[in-house]
Amino acid sequence: MTNVTFHRVAEATALGDGEARHVEIGDRQIALFNVGGSFFAIDDVCTHAFALLSDGFVEGDIIECPLHGGKFEIKTGKACAAPCTEDVKTYPVKVESGAVLVGIPAS
Ligand code: FES
Repeated sequence: MTNVTFHRVAEATALGDGEARHVEIGDRQIALFNVGGSFFAIDDVCTHAFALLSDGFVEGDIIECPLHGGKFEIKTGKACAAPCTEDVKTYPVKVESGAVLVGIPAS
């Protein structure tokens, strides 16, 4: 398994069910989601053109891109509606002492 370093990005209570937030870790732009009380992190930049998925529309466990309406599965990063065909990267997330931490692969 790849080594990852976890970074604290938010208080768990700061993000309600169905909400998204843009976070930055180093030069990575990441979208953090609360889906049904569980947290997930994916690359925030859409793989189709330039738009931030954290500005999009959450429908259950799907995020719809605000620019052209492409969709991704929040839990897997899988592109699931046109015009998106390339998946977004996912990151491991854990909650510790009320804080949400996102794991970034060691470079
Ligand atoms: S930029 Fe996301 S669907 Fe086009």
